[in-house]
Amino acid sequence: MPKIKHKRFQEIAQFDHVIEWTDYPNGQGFNTHIWFEKFFSGSDTFNLELACGKAEYTIGLAKRYPKRNFVGVDIKGNRMWVGAHHALTHHMHNAAFLRAYIAHLEHYIPEGRIEEIWIIFPDPQLKKDRKKLTSTRFLELYKKLLIPGGTVHLKTDSAELFEFTLAQITAHNLTIVRQIDDVYANPSSPEELVGIQTFYEGLHVKRGRTIRYVQFSLSNNS
Ligand SMILES: C[S@@+](CC[C@H](N)C(=O)[O-])C[C@H]1O[C@@H](n2cnc3c(N)ncnc32)[C@H](O)[C@@H]1O
Repeated sequence: MPKIKHKRFQEIAQFDHVIEWTDYPNGQGFNTHIWFEKFFSGSDTFNLELACGKAEYTIGLAKRYPKRNFVGVDIKGNRMWVGAHHALTHHMHNAAFLRAYIAHLEHYIPEGRIEEIWIIFPDPQLKKDRKKLTSTRFLELYKKLLIPGGTVHLKTDSAELFEFTLAQITAHNLTIVRQIDDVYANPSSPEELVGIQTFYEGLHVKRGRTIRYVQFSLSNNS
């Protein structure tokens, strides 16, 4: 293993604001309520960035909204270290991290406490629909975690994943809060969509790919 990766793994294991699944397999020995209430000083709700990579959105949103709490989730500690180290060195108290598989979120995240879920340039998983982060099994999981009226944001360069997600929204009779088919061409794109750019987004923008965005509520559209 490269030296820098090894060093990051050692450091992240010592960070108080990072939970690693390897310390609590299947949530064993981890009390979600105690941890989050203690870490976020009694706050009732928080927000998740899934597949966060280097956690540009966790950090960017936590800085823009200092009274709200954000948790970046990814399985790769080496990438997550970048965001976790930034939060630590900038004395941020509203950003934490969970190194775990997204499918195992229920073991670590309390139900009904999430305001918003941000999914930013996830792997599009073009071969298997059930692996897509907006497949039905993941939507069911998000519904359990979200507060009533809580929303999911998806930002992606993948036309296939975007179309799949819109079809899912229709199939499950969910409510679109905002849809932007070309984020950088639309002058009314919110600042946090154009003002925060992730590592993967930077690569896609350089290649001239269209960046798409949709925010939807898990409540039924009735
Ligand atoms: C394409 S990268 C995007 C990273 C970041 N959001 C960005 O835009 O730069 C996808 C990320 O999803 C993470 N990932 C993929 N499947 C995952 C899973 N099942 N659980 C947790 N993380 C996952 C990978 O480790 C990777 O960091």
